Parts: sequence; C-alpha cells; structure tokens
Amino acid sequence: MAEEKTLGRLPKWPRQALNNSVIAAEQAYRKRSGLPLLTDADVEALRAGVPMPWEGGDGSLAAPTPAAPSPAAPATAATDANQDSFGPDVQKWLAAGKKWSKSAIAAEQARRKRNSLPALTDAEITALLGEPAAPAAAPATPAAPTAAPARTLAPAAPKPALPSVPPLTRTGTATKYVGTPAVGTSKAAAAGGLATVGPDDTTVDQRRRRLVWSGVGAFLGAWFLAFFRFFLPRTLFEPATKFKIGYPSDFALGVDTKFQQKYRIWVDRTPDRLFVVYARCTHLGCTPDWKPAENKFKCPCHGSGYDSEGVNFEGPAPRPMDRAYIEKAADGQIQVDVSRLYSWPKGQPSHFDDPGAFLPV
Ligand code: FES
Repeated sequence: MAEEKTLGRLPKWPRQALNNSVIAAEQAYRKRSGLPLLTDADVEALRAGVPMPWEGGDGSLAAPTPAAPSPAAPATAATDANQDSFGPDVQKWLAAGKKWSKSAIAAEQARRKRNSLPALTDAEITALLGEPAAPAAAPATPAAPTAAPARTLAPAAPKPALPSVPPLTRTGTATKYVGTPAVGTSKAAAAGGLATVGPDDTTVDQRRRRLVWSGVGAFLGAWFLAFFRFFLPRTLFEPATKFKIGYPSDFALGVDTKFQQKYRIWVDRTPDRLFVVYARCTHLGCTPDWKPAENKFKCPCHGSGYDSEGVNFEGPAPRPMDRAYIEKAADGQIQVDVSRLYSWPKGQPSHFDDPGAFLPV
C-alpha cells in the first residue's frame, strides 16, 4: 500500500533548515497521529534546508514514485496479514476504528489476566495503538499460525531453569552515592550498609554544631524556668511586726536608735518608764532623724520637729509620733508589736498612758 506523503506540522517549502529537536517533535507527532514517519532522506533534507525528495521546489507535494515503494510498505502489508491472526475482540475493535491509549491497553491486559483470558500480543497492542508495524514483524508473519494456539489455555510448557544467581550479601564495603541524602535517612542508609558522601566532619563543624545546640538548650531552659515561675506565688515578704529587743537594763536614759534600720523604731527611756516610738513622721510619713546635739527628732522632708519623746513642736506635723505596743516576755525581754500603735490625735485625749504603750521601770 503506497503511503501518502504529508507535511504534518512541517512548514511548507521554502523554509529554513530545521534542528534535531524540531525534527524529533515532528516524528513524535506523526507517530501519535498515525502519519508516515520521516525517512532518513527526509531528515537529511530538513537538516540541510533543502526540499525533501517527495517535495516540489514550488511548495507543492510531488506525487510519490510508484517505482520505488517506501520501506514501510512491506510492513503495512505485513500488518494487514497479521490482523488475521488477531483475536476476534481485537479484530472487532480494529474494524470499529477505535483508538487505544496505553493505559486502556494496560487495563485490558489486567482484565484478561483477572478473567484468565489470553493476553494481548505485541502485534495486537501495536495495532490497537495505531502504530506502524515494525519492519522486523514482516518475516515473522509465517509464524502467526503457531501463535494462535498459544492463546488457548493449554498447560504452560515447563520453563527452562534459570541460572542460579548467588544471593546478594553485603560485603561491609559501604556503597557511596553522590548528592544530598534526604533528611532522616542517614540511619536507614547506615543500617543498609550505605554511606553518604559529603564534606568531612571537621572540628570547626563540630564546634559550630555544639554552639548551636547549646544556644537552643539555653533558650529552652530559660523558657521552661519562666514557665514554671508563672505558677509560683508572687509574695511580698514584709519584716516581722512582733520582735524582741532585749532587756530593760540594756537601755540607758534617753533615745536609743540602734533598731531604726531594722525595725523602724526608737527605744526611749525616761526616769520612770520605757516606751518605743514608731519612726514615722505624722505629716506625710517620712522617717525623721534623731539629732542628739539638739535633743530632738527632725524630719528631713518638710522640717517637722519632735522632742525626745516624739511630741511635735514645729513644722507641719499635726500630732506626736505613734508609740508601739510593748510588754515584757516570759524570758524578761522586751517584746514589741508595731502592728498595735498608740497615738495622740490632735485635740483628742492621748493614748500614751494606756497599758501596753509603755513599761514602768
Ligand atoms: S513628712 Fe515629715 S514634715 Fe512632712
């Protein structure tokens, strides 16, 4: 059967010389479309930028030469002859002109396998795909009658014994591969006797890695500490309000300031009593200073002055400084409680003579 030459997707003459990739694309298109493939002479002409043998120099297609049949002709004839040996289903599909894809062929093969039907032969597959039969298939045509019985469900002939292949054993020599291994596969590769190829693990790399992990550990540690600190109570620890300051005999006449820093009190002793003044200015709460040379307390904030017993006599202070509760403990020491204060409000009776406001001595 003579093939009709067609340009396919090739541009008409006159045209430029085509490169290999354009020619390969054209061949692939012709194969997909069932068009006759370009011959070697066609390819050479396309590369050289000259008209193909069957192409007219004026852009028309020259009539194919009947005296010189193309090499594909015997193959086409052989294909027609082969179709007689195809199965009835295949012949029916070919007669219907149905075009098969490779995935459809694979599905059909799977169906035949499931239903114990004979599988499609290579010639049938080629015909269903619409591909031109290979030239080598022509001499094989006489063998077609013998292929038909092979599609019956006759018991298969015993296969010749394959040469035994020695089992694969690992020799301990690592197989090397080039490239970046996927993350997380190094252990699996090592277990399989594989080793990666990469830069050597230098001391600088190790130090750098250690530094990075130390930073990560420090960050996580600080974060966890802050997290657990969140659950601890935020308590303000205040100094005790009840404490002992020693025996009455430890204090001489006058003002003793040794507990000012620790308890904010002064111990004041007169000829007949001992009392504790709470060191807080009654104006705005500053801590006055004891001025022994002047025998008075002087507030540094606004200048209020108090005498040696804490009674105000100058400045904006409205009343005398308060006195703390005082008692003698079982061991004879003086026990002070600054949470219980005795005051002398302006224009009101004094509480400095109340029990607990002083100790008689
Ligand atoms: S606080 Fe002491 S005088 Fe104002």
